[in-house]
Amino acid sequence: MKLFILFGCLIYLVGYHAKTLKQQRRFPEDFLFGTATAAYQIEGGWNADGKGENIWDYVTHNTPTVITDASNGDVAADSYNNYKRDVQMMRELGLDAYRFSISWARILPDGFSNNVNEAGVKFYNNYINEMIKYNIEPIVTLYHWDLPQKLQELGGFANPLFSDWFEDYARVAFDHFGDRVKLWITFNEPREICYEGYASDTKAPVLNSSAVGAYICAKNLILSHAKAYHAYNNDFKSNQGGECGITISVNWYGPLTDSKDDAMAAELRRQAEWGLYAEPIFSSEGDFPKELSRKIALKSAEQGYSRSRLPSLTDDEKDFVKGSFDFFGVNHYTSLLVSASEYKQEFIVPSMLDDVGAFTYVPEEWPKAASYWLRLAPNSIYNALSHLRNKYGNIKFIITENGWSSGPSGGLIDDDRVRYYRAALESVLDCLDDGINIKGYMAWSLLDNFEWNEGYLERFGLYEVDFEDPARPRTPRKSAFVYKQIIKSREIDH
Ligand code: NOJ
Repeated sequence: MKLFILFGCLIYLVGYHAKTLKQQRRFPEDFLFGTATAAYQIEGGWNADGKGENIWDYVTHNTPTVITDASNGDVAADSYNNYKRDVQMMRELGLDAYRFSISWARILPDGFSNNVNEAGVKFYNNYINEMIKYNIEPIVTLYHWDLPQKLQELGGFANPLFSDWFEDYARVAFDHFGDRVKLWITFNEPREICYEGYASDTKAPVLNSSAVGAYICAKNLILSHAKAYHAYNNDFKSNQGGECGITISVNWYGPLTDSKDDAMAAELRRQAEWGLYAEPIFSSEGDFPKELSRKIALKSAEQGYSRSRLPSLTDDEKDFVKGSFDFFGVNHYTSLLVSASEYKQEFIVPSMLDDVGAFTYVPEEWPKAASYWLRLAPNSIYNALSHLRNKYGNIKFIITENGWSSGPSGGLIDDDRVRYYRAALESVLDCLDDGINIKGYMAWSLLDNFEWNEGYLERFGLYEVDFEDPARPRTPRKSAFVYKQIIKSREIDH
């Protein structure tokens, strides 16, 4: 009998403790829950009302073979005409914020600021006003991969004047929308822009210039970011009171074993994947990562180049880029394990492997999404964010993307996506418990859209879009209801 009572008390205490713990694990009231999208992936209206051609229009129209289903973003989810429905969906979900991008060529058709397309400005004004009307905070990305084709013809990110063009464009956007937009992101995912666009044949402009172009792009992109940041800081911030940051893709690269070699390989891989872009801006040195720079210089010499393929930053440039942020936007999707010596499995994410010589491995038991690179990995967000905090200090972080893909016939009952979001948000709570300064979380994506090289074969939406129907109707998936409940209760609903 005594044992029975003791046991009962124990169960009660454990239950009570678990309940209290659960009660503590709430998202703060001012935490921004949102979703994210990008102009080319959702808008359509590719040549509507004076919009200029951009590099994705050009590539999809001229070399459709780079897209698995040979599709394009000409119409996409037609958000150009359906933006009110999109805002209605944001309201259905109860979003605090919505991250979207401006199509540079929609407001400056040739890329230069002398010719502003008023119809394009009007579209974004309407879109932003509709969000503001319902208390949804707009978070604007200035560049999500769709460079005006006219600027590409002048060399794009490889032209040393690129940073001036970008600053001019940014000023036009701050001028027109900064009275209502308080969170600005200069670039989305520099690695994907520079490496995949300039050193591989996947993303526009599909230049594949053997890792020379990618590093020129990296330097110019960082300078462009800093120019836009300083323009905002010097000329807009005091009136408009907003903030400016950059979004970098920070997946977690951990060592496969406890060996020193694997630890070094993982660190080098992190430097190549995102340190190259983050270090100049967020570290106190204002420079490219040392070990990576050394490796690239050695490799370049071995390959017979007269100088490193990675251009250096001058002291003035370092001072200019160092600290050019109000927040760090993190796109995080998955983890990989890094080995110094062997492939455990044939799973290779495109990377400048030649320069860093590290191999990646993904355990079979990590559940797979439709995208070959995407797995549900344990503690993924916590591993990445705690590393960033330890490296750059407890600066302001916003998770600007995180999400899960299914195939086109994935349907509305998306339990795998629900499982992913719950796990990801648990990991965010682990970060918050540990004091990491995360201010918001944007699920990718509000709705199905054009998934770049995979066209419409991979779906990331909380809302399903019927791309066969000219009206592009949107229907909420189960994950939309789950996310809505989490936002409302500020708790994860296991
Ligand atoms: C990151 C990119 O920013 C976004 O455009 C893309 O659709 C998602 N990852 C999913 O691949």
